[in-house]
Amino acid sequence: MTLGYVGAHPPAGTIVVVGQLATFYYFLHFLVLIPLIGKIERPRPLPTSIGAAVLGPAGAAGGTDMPRFVLAVAAVLALAAGSIGIARAQEEAPPAPHQQWSFEGVFGTYDEAALQRGYQVYKEVCSACHAVKHLYYRDLSELGYSDDQVKGIAAQFQVTDGPNDQATCSSARESPRTRSSALRQ
Ligand code: HEC
Repeated sequence: MTLGYVGAHPPAGTIVVVGQLATFYYFLHFLVLIPLIGKIERPRPLPTSIGAAVLGPAGAAGGTDMPRFVLAVAAVLALAAGSIGIARAQEEAPPAPHQQWSFEGVFGTYDEAALQRGYQVYKEVCSACHAVKHLYYRDLSELGYSDDQVKGIAAQFQVTDGPNDQATCSSARESPRTRSSALRQ
């Protein structure tokens, strides 16, 4: 039941430890306790009469098995402590350092210089493989570029039209209103 409950919850925090303990008991019960009980109980012969002869073997069997039982329980407890220790160690992983972002919170603002550096990196590095064909050049004004700067950026690129009636292709400078399908170098 416990395992069913734990399984229905996202594995986090206490749920993990409870799940580990319950799983542990599940296996302890079937793999250790039941065989042990069988071992301890079987040697006792059915008393044919109430006499000293019956108590003798039963006492001896209990005497040899008890230390083993205690050892097994101790080993099992040590294992449990170990697995809990591992869980603790995992939970105590150092938290990621808190970053101060200028865009944090409702009143956060973007650092335009950083945005424009990002665009430069994109243009010089990433655009070799990644296109931003769904953006328009005018979208660059979101990064703090003035209209004239956007026009300047768009004009650095050329598009080649598809063939016209005379089957020739013309190329034109891109404008802020063109999609940046050619926003590559
Ligand atoms: C040499 C070509 C190349 C360059 C340059 C490049 N990328 Fe990539 N990028 C790829 C490829 C290929 C994949 C897809 C890899 C995959 O899916 O296994 C990818 C995947 C990605 C992804 C994951 C996309 C997703 O859907 O999971 C991101 C994010 C990314 N790149 C960002 C960047 C950034 C930022 C830059 C510039 C700093 C950059 N890439 C430069 C080729 C490149």
